[in-house]
Amino acid sequence: MIQGKWFPQGSDLTEALQIREAVFGRSEDSIDSGAQSTLVYQDDVPAAAGRIWWQDGAFWLGDIGVLPDYRGQKLGDLTLRLLLFKAQDHFAREVRLICPAETEGFFTRLGFHRENVLEDGTLELMIPGDEIDLDTCKSCKKKDCPLRTE
Ligand SMILES: CC(C)(COP(=O)(O)OP(=O)(O)OC[C@H]1O[C@@H](n2cnc3c(N)ncnc32)[C@H](O)[C@@H]1OP(=O)(O)O)[C@@H](O)C(=O)NCCC(=O)NCCS
Repeated sequence: MIQGKWFPQGSDLTEALQIREAVFGRSEDSIDSGAQSTLVYQDDVPAAAGRIWWQDGAFWLGDIGVLPDYRGQKLGDLTLRLLLFKAQDHFAREVRLICPAETEGFFTRLGFHRENVLEDGTLELMIPGDEIDLDTCKSCKKKDCPLRTE
């Protein structure tokens, strides 16, 4: 079973930090105290994580990572959608993130545009809040799904 769970500011981030350490080789930092984190569990195992915070007039997403053994099963997609849903829920005007160039396509699928190439080669991406579209039916190839609305 797949489950998503939110960790508001001040929560115990042990599981999220284990994923961050495994995926990015980084630990707790100053952003954590003001960020909300989300975790995605597969069969009660924490497999993916990400966080969202407010900074300089925008919502930022970061540390969206899936443990290597769990990649390719849409857990990253669910993590990103949970974060975008949270941004929408807060009436975000824009949502930004910095990602490695090789993951750009993962984010542009959901409407992010490239804004900058940073000195280290990473990319700054942005999506205006009113362009966030979490309708999963649109990109689904199943024609006879009972959930399809159009
Ligand atoms: C990037 C990452 C989060 C993707 O997670 P994942 O669970 O393997 O991806 P999903 O299974 O949810 O993929 C969803 C879709 O995105 C696509 N996708 C996944 N990784 C992609 C990439 N690097 N580039 C382009 N598309 C990608 C998949 O093909 C899939 O497409 P589909 O819906 O058409 O089938 C994961 O590879 C990861 O943790 N990478 C290392 C950390 C990192 O660089 N994070 C991003 C910066 S914060």
